[in-house]
Amino acid sequence: MAFGAQSTADEVLGGHDLSGKTVLVTGGNSGLGRETARAMAAKGANVVIAGRDQAKLDEAKAAIEADVPSARVETIVGDLGSLESIRACGAEANERFDKIDILINNAGVMACPQAQTSDGFEMQFGTNHLGHFALTKHLIPLIEKGQNKRIVNLSSRGHHFAPVDLDDPNFEHREYEKWASYGQAKTANILFSVGLEQRFADKGIHVYAVHPGGIQTNLGRHLTEQDIEALLARVTTSDSAFEWKTIPQGAATTCWAAISPELEGKGGVYCEDCHVAENDDESSAGGVRSYAIDPDIADQLWSISEQMTGESFSA
Ligand SMILES: NC(=O)c1ccc[n+]([C@@H]2O[C@H](COP(=O)([O-])OP(=O)(O)OC[C@H]3O[C@@H](n4cnc5c(N)ncnc54)[C@H](OP(=O)(O)O)[C@@H]3O)[C@@H](O)[C@H]2O)c1
Repeated sequence: MAFGAQSTADEVLGGHDLSGKTVLVTGGNSGLGRETARAMAAKGANVVIAGRDQAKLDEAKAAIEADVPSARVETIVGDLGSLESIRACGAEANERFDKIDILINNAGVMACPQAQTSDGFEMQFGTNHLGHFALTKHLIPLIEKGQNKRIVNLSSRGHHFAPVDLDDPNFEHREYEKWASYGQAKTANILFSVGLEQRFADKGIHVYAVHPGGIQTNLGRHLTEQDIEALLARVTTSDSAFEWKTIPQGAATTCWAAISPELEGKGGVYCEDCHVAENDDESSAGGVRSYAIDPDIADQLWSISEQMTGESFSA
C-alpha cells in the first residue's frame, strides 16, 4: 500500500507485528515522539521513552497505557543538553536493556533564543545534533544486538534554511540567528544519518532522516504569531499550499522509516510524506538539499562532532 502526507502512524504500522522489538524514542514524552511510542506499543513493541524529566515521562507512560492497555512502556532519563547526563543515560540503558532494534532520535528544540548547553555548545546544534551523536554512540552496542536494526533521525524541511557552518557551529564568530541555527542543526541530523549509514550498514544497521511535516506541538514554544506567519510564508509556494498535519499524521513518516520493507538496506536517505525525497536545491515545498546528503561534508561533520563531544564510535 502506498502511504503519503495524510497517512497516520497507525495506518503505516497496520499489518505489522512489532512483538519482541525494543524501540527507544528520545523526546518520547511529547508531540511526535509520544505518538510514535504509542503507535508502536499498540503493535506490540517494547517501548522505551527517553526524556529529560521523569515526571513528564511518567505522565506520558500513563497516557500511553491508558490508550493501549497492553502497552509495554519503560522510561529513561537523559538530558541531550548535557554530555554527563547522556553518558549516564547510555550506561543505564546498557545495564537495563538487552538490545535496541529501533532507535528514534526524535527530541528537539526549535528557534530558541541564543543559549548554550551545559557543555557550552550552541543550544540547537548541541541538543538536536551533538546530543544525539553522543547518545547514539553509547547505544550502538545495544543496537548491534537487535534485529532489522534501524535508526531514524528526526530532521526537518527547516534544513533548507542553512547548511552546517563547519567553521563556526556554535555561532561564536557570527551573529546568532535562530532559523539559521535550527536549519544548521536539522541539516546535521541528515548528514549524521549519511555518516552512520556509511559506517554501520555493513553491520546491518540502516539509518533514515525524516521530515515529519508541519505539526502544531510544543516545538513552537519559542515562536511568536509573527514568527509563525513568516515561517508559513517561507514554505508556501504558488503551486503548493502549506497544510498542517495532525500529530498522528506527523508521526507516520517516522514509523514508515522505522519499519517499511521498501527501505530495506537503503539507508542514508531523507524521507518526507512516507517516501524517499528527491534531491532538490530550489524548491521550498520539499526535497533534500545537496549539502545535507554530501558524503564528504558528512565526514567533516563526523570529525568535528567527535572532537566536540570527545566521543568516538568504534565501528
Ligand atoms: N512539529 C513540527 O512541525 C516539526 C517539523 C519538522 C521537524 N520536527 C522535528 O520533530 C521532532 C519532534 O518534535 P515535536 O514537534 O514532537 O516537538 P515537542 O512536542 O516539543 O517534542 C520535543 C521533545 O524533545 C524533548 N527535548 C527537548 N530538549 C531536550 C533535551 N535537552 N533533552 C532531552 N529531550 C529534550 C522535549 O522534552 P521536554 O518536553 O522536556 O521539553 C520533547 O519531549 C523534533 O526533532 C523536531 O525538530 C517537528
